[in-house]
Parts: sequence; structure tokens; C-alpha cells
Amino acid sequence: MFRTLASTVLALAACAGAKWIVPGARWYDTDGNLFNAHAGGLCVDQETGKFYWFGEYKVQGQVEGGGISVYSSDDLATWTSHGLALTPIENHTYVSNHNRIQRPKVIYSEETGEYHMWWHADDDSYSWLLQGLATSPNIAGPYTFVSATSPLGNWSQDFGAFTDYKSGRSYALYSNGDRVEGRDVYLSRFNENLTAVEEVTYRFPKYDFEAPTIIQTEKSYFALMSHKTGYRPNNVVALRADNLEGPWSQPFFVSPAYTRTFSTQSGFSWRIAGSKKTTYLYMADQWDLNSLWESRNVWLPIEIDERDGSLEVVWHDIYDLNVKTGEWKPIKGKTYISKHAELSGQAYLQEASFASGNRIATGIYGNDSKVTFTVDGQGTDQWVSFYHQNIDDMGFGDQPQGQPDRINGTWQLRRISSVIVNGDEENVHTLYQKDTHKGIILSTPLLLPLKEGKNTITVGGLYNGFDYKGADLDRIVVYPPEGGRNKGKRFWWW
Ligand code: GLA
Repeated sequence: MFRTLASTVLALAACAGAKWIVPGARWYDTDGNLFNAHAGGLCVDQETGKFYWFGEYKVQGQVEGGGISVYSSDDLATWTSHGLALTPIENHTYVSNHNRIQRPKVIYSEETGEYHMWWHADDDSYSWLLQGLATSPNIAGPYTFVSATSPLGNWSQDFGAFTDYKSGRSYALYSNGDRVEGRDVYLSRFNENLTAVEEVTYRFPKYDFEAPTIIQTEKSYFALMSHKTGYRPNNVVALRADNLEGPWSQPFFVSPAYTRTFSTQSGFSWRIAGSKKTTYLYMADQWDLNSLWESRNVWLPIEIDERDGSLEVVWHDIYDLNVKTGEWKPIKGKTYISKHAELSGQAYLQEASFASGNRIATGIYGNDSKVTFTVDGQGTDQWVSFYHQNIDDMGFGDQPQGQPDRINGTWQLRRISSVIVNGDEENVHTLYQKDTHKGIILSTPLLLPLKEGKNTITVGGLYNGFDYKGADLDRIVVYPPEGGRNKGKRFWWW
């Protein structure tokens, strides 16, 4: 009896401690459904201090105009769905599901006592370029449509919002479209009651950037934005200034060149002023152009050096974040390289100066050309990160779909691998492996059921609409169970 009680306490404690952030994984809400809120933004509930995340709701067959979903959390890791905060209205001019309802941001207005949701409101050919406004007395909504307008008579496409923690004033950030007369990003101050922008604070001229967000430190403002390549990722940049009015620095890459910011597009950022540390998060989208509704969220800590005005988004497969203290730490895993794995069929190790041990596994294909790793497990669900190179992006062989750097080329964007644990072919895990660049290795995590002791993890190729090729595999990293050994073993004593 006592043992049972002790185990219960242990198991519950393990659940309560969950606060790992796993960028690029499939995130699930507390009902077990996929976290479905893209190009979003955070707002804090005035009364409870809870975080609310708002984003574009996308499902297969309705990847635009699906409305705005909302989730709440105390730790930025465990999310509870509150359904749609803004529901599309049939035949409505601006918020029907034939419209674009993109990049929502919610800010509380002290003056009106309501939450104000702003977004990029458009038709399906992006010809209106408006800012939508809807309000609600409750943070989770439902929000009521108010208007769709041109800020100070200007075009407004990708929308961002930012509140200065020193002055308390809020600002809208918006790219003003792709036309030659546009191609700027505007930073404009909202009026006190957040019902319209009242003054242009700064115009980032003619860089042709989009997806803007601003991070404020003690000393600086950093504006992060992407280049314009639609739902294909590119190298996100930052610009720095002492004042919002400028002067602003030249743009610089926020992550290693050619990683395309770890296959993400910027859009939001957050400053956690914790009791021990101030931490800045980059909150981005890892779009999946082949199935937009399956796009992932990538949230990563930002490293800032005020001495030289630099800022870097650093990749971590998993990090543990404490939103109260502001502290975070990367989780350490155990690495298994392809060079020491077992290869079958046509899969083979090819020399690659950028790979682990100078060799990368290639020729991974379908059900018979595979790579098998033997790894240690702890008898529960564990995160495993798969480090791959996918060179379709720059054209490879004679595949017409894989040559974007050629005239009339398009991107293939991802391959899919099958992952089988301990030979259990009934439960194939699907691993999406986005385009990298030649010589660039990036990772994607999967939560896998590992038994205590030795396990095999076998990687093959699945059909991605073009081919059965898996991406080249460099290594995998197996992480310890979240919350310790008992997590996932809830009720194991029954
Ligand atoms: C960019 C924008 C998104 C969306 C797509 C459409 O990625 O940032 O908000 O408008 O283009 O292609």
C-alpha cells in the first residue's frame, strides 16, 4: 500500500515538472490534439498571469482562413486549447474562410478594458493588405470583428506587434507588400486605446523583409524579420537600435548561414524577465509547404551580446525552461553516429567532410535500404533527434521537382523517413526531413517508446509524393525521459 502511494506521488510530481520545449516536434495539447496555432503571438491574462498563445488555425483542406485558435499555459510548454478565439463568419467580407486571417497578435488595452486582436486581413490574392481588429472582454474570446483598415493609408501585409516594457506603449509592425512602391517594413505607434496606429515611428526602407518582431533588452531593440520567400524558409535577419526611432544597424543573419534559420520563419519573440535571469525567446514557424496544416512551431532561446550588438538564435534539440526564474538549460543526450550503425540494402556510408566521423549514411530508400542504430533506453517514451542532410533544395540528379536554384525550379521541401523501434512494423513513426543545404545538417525530433536496455531504431524511406528516399543521416541523439524515469510509466503498478 505504502509503495503504491509513493509511486503515485512520484508519478504525479513527474507530470507537474514537465516544462521541456522541443522545437520542431509535433506538439500536443492537454486533450491530446496537435497544437494548431501558426504565425502566432503571446498575450498575458491581466487577472491570472497565464500565457495565451493565439495563432492561425489550419487543417487539411482549409489551410488559410480557418480562424484564430487560442491556447493557455503556465509554463509555455503545457498547452490547453480554448478552441477558436476568432471564428470565420460565412460570407463576411473580411473574416470568412475565403479570406486570409494571418499573423494574429493580441494586446490588452487598459483604456478600453478589453483585449484587442490585430492581424493581417486580406483576400486570397493579397490585394487588400489591411489590418484587422477584433475585441473581447475575455482573453480567450470569443472576439468580435470591429474593422479592417489601412494604417495611415498605407498597405499592411505581414503583421507583428510589440509593447515597450519601459514606456508601456504598443507598436504595430508590418511589411507593406511586394510591389515596388512597397517593400518596406513599418514600425508605427498605436494610440493609447489600441484602436488604430497614430504615428509612424520608423520605416525600414526597401529591404523587402517580412514576418517582423521586436525584442527589447535593457539597452537595445532588435528587430527580427525574414526575407520574402513565402512559406519556404530563408535566413532571418536582425537589426539593432538604441531607440525605436533609429538609427538602426544594418541587417545581419541570426543563425549560421544556409541553415535558413533552422528551416524557420520569424514572427514573434518574448522577453521573460525571470527572478534570476532575463531570457529572450525566438518564436517561429517551421512551415511545411507540402502540408501547411502540419507545420511545426520552433521556439528557441536567443543569445545577445550587447557589447557588439550581436544576437544569435541557437539551436537546441530540447531545453528545459523555467518561466518563473527565466533560467533555461539544454538537455544532454547520448549520440549514436551513422558510421557505427548497421546499414542494409543500397544504403551506404559516403565520405562527407562535414559529417560525424567523416561519413554520412546515404541511399536510404523504402523498406529495404535502411540504417539501424542500437541504443540504450530507459523503459519509457524518450525524445530522439535525427540529424539529417536533405540536398533536394539545390537540385540533385534529374528530379524536376528538386531544382529551385535552376530557372523554373521548384522545391521538394521535404523527404519522409520511416522510423521503426525494436522491429515493431505495426507502429511506424514518420519523420519529416526538411530541405537543408548541401553540407548543412539539421535535426528533427520524435518521441519514441524505448524499453529498458538495448533497443534498435531503424530508419528507412517513405513516400513523400515524389519518391521513397529518406534524407542522408548523420547521427541520432537519444535524450533521457522528461521528468525522470517514471514519466510515462504512470499507473505501471496496476
Ligand atoms: C509568408 C508570410 C506568411 C504568408 C505566406 C504566404 O510566409 O510571412 O504570413 O502570408 O508568405 O505565402
